[in-house]
Amino acid sequence: MKFFVDTADLEEIREAADMGILDGVTTNPSLMAKQGISGKQNILDHYKRICEITDGDVSAEVISTDFDGMMEEAMVLKDIAPNIVIKIPMIRDGVKALSALSGKGIKTNCTLIFSAGQAILAAKAGATYLSPFMGRIDDISWDSDLLLEEIAEIYEIQEMDTEILAASIRSPLHIVKAARLGAHVVTCPLKAILGLLNHPLTDIGLEKFLADHRKANS
Ligand code: G3P
Repeated sequence: MKFFVDTADLEEIREAADMGILDGVTTNPSLMAKQGISGKQNILDHYKRICEITDGDVSAEVISTDFDGMMEEAMVLKDIAPNIVIKIPMIRDGVKALSALSGKGIKTNCTLIFSAGQAILAAKAGATYLSPFMGRIDDISWDSDLLLEEIAEIYEIQEMDTEILAASIRSPLHIVKAARLGAHVVTCPLKAILGLLNHPLTDIGLEKFLADHRKANS
């Protein structure tokens, strides 16, 4: 399973890259706004800075909701760097744009996925990646496991080659679940990835090893 970080924070991306576990980056308009990135050229320049940190795929989301606008944005975004992936929302004109971009050999990430039906449509349109939002589903007491399981099963039965990119990750447990349920990629805050490290018995065991070493070598 590939590890992407879900952020527009350059320091967070660099930290993940330094750990040697970074396979790519996803952003969205809220993450860009959170970093205070605004204005067309500033936004493009920021995506370029992200692409200079990683050779992995970097998802840049369109703002337009009409087909012509999405395509116009995509043609600009794709020229930023070879690893730019165009992020498209699951709406009617988005499906049309996914299909058109797929026909041009341009990689895409279909986002804001909350149902298996949407996942089928995105794969049919040729999306490279599919972003089911686990956290937002669990936030309303639905079960993201069931969604991921259903999508993975349908994609396997139908031999759909769109990659499941588990998104809206809130915790290390979401990462483990995504891995268990067959996601190809998980995109998360670095904090969730670092949370995978933690187990009290590891800390206790290491402390004992070091204490015994110190005792034997004093
Ligand atoms: O960037 C897509 C997705 O990962 C955002 O998730 O729910 O944390 O805003 P969320």
